[in-house]
Amino acid sequence: MQMRHLGLLLLVAALLAAPPAVSAWRPWPPRNETGGGAASGLGASKKFEGSSEFVKLQYHMGPVLATAITVHPIWYGPWPVEQKRTIRAFLRSLAPPPEEEARIPRPSVAAWWRTVRLYTDQTDANVSAAVSLGAEKSDARMSRGARLSRMDIQAVVRDAVGARTRPLPVDSGGVYLVLTSPEVVVEDFCGQVCGFHYFTFPSVVGYTLPYAWVGNSARRCPEVCAYPFAIPAYVHGRRPESPPNADVGVDGMVSVIAHELAELASNPLANAWYAGTDPSFPTEIADLCEGIYGTGGGGAYTGQLLTDARSGAAYNVNGAGGRRFLVQWVWNPVLSYCSGPNALDQ
Ligand SMILES: *[C@@H]1O[C@H](CO)[C@@H](O)[C@H](O)[C@H]1NC(C)=O
Ligand SMILES: *[C@@H]1O[C@H](CO)[C@@H](O)[C@H](O)[C@H]1NC(C)=O
Repeated sequence: MQMRHLGLLLLVAALLAAPPAVSAWRPWPPRNETGGGAASGLGASKKFEGSSEFVKLQYHMGPVLATAITVHPIWYGPWPVEQKRTIRAFLRSLAPPPEEEARIPRPSVAAWWRTVRLYTDQTDANVSAAVSLGAEKSDARMSRGARLSRMDIQAVVRDAVGARTRPLPVDSGGVYLVLTSPEVVVEDFCGQVCGFHYFTFPSVVGYTLPYAWVGNSARRCPEVCAYPFAIPAYVHGRRPESPPNADVGVDGMVSVIAHELAELASNPLANAWYAGTDPSFPTEIADLCEGIYGTGGGGAYTGQLLTDARSGAAYNVNGAGGRRFLVQWVWNPVLSYCSGPNALDQ
């Protein structure tokens, strides 16, 4: 449901004597980690990435996003053009036209989306292969102020679909992505969440629309929401990875956007795919794999990443226009562990 406080997981990994109740929310067994998050035990089990008999991901009979998905970004607060370009490039990379996809080196963002497509609804329809960038809306002047509650995010969506000039279209595959700039404070941001997804209420917005919010954490908590491009102070001896688009806040957002889109697609109305018994606090397909970006990942270790030979930046997928991104893995329902296109064993 929501991208959780990754710091908590790092803290748990750093404190080997963490109480069971706290560490138990991670579905996989603790690794032999030192406080420095060294990759001890890497290779001990190729199927370590989140694999656990304790994970009971269940289907609750609701719909998945099976028709062509159109993502409508809503840029809230001042957004430099280059930052918008990076996020648009990521969204365009999820399902590029075939001739373009053929030019993108593996592992690709589109291959990452293939894991999300493994989720089906009760009519056996898979999550859509088609994901495109739709119309956009800007609210650079922050019409609802620089402090937003969770309900305010719905109001921002309502403003965008109800705008007098060029409202965002309301269509069957539309999802609305509220992206807040570093100056915007959102309820629970940094403390508990880096992003969340839900659906709008007809009484507030006029329609039931899946939407997500993701904030740029650059000013407030990059070590929480832009990990591993920033590292919490209590994790010693660990250097931050260099971000592939040279922007800690935005490169961190890309993985959170990926997280929320994967969950929106597989659990758009909070009644399809999740683990746990409480639909208000479900554990969804990306929650299960938070902090895992490559083979061997878990605890405070990201797993095996790729390195950009020119810039030294860390990434795990290639996208449109020669861009590279680092996105977390998602739970694979066929394999029953976290997987991604950069896995070493495929
Ligand atoms: C973890 O440490 C224990 C005890 O030192 C050892 O028996 C075990 O094999 C280690 N596991 C891994 C995955 O390295
Ligand atoms: C649809 O989902 C099923 C079940 O996970 C999977 O076996 C199949 O390969 C998926 N189809 C596509 C096109 O991804």
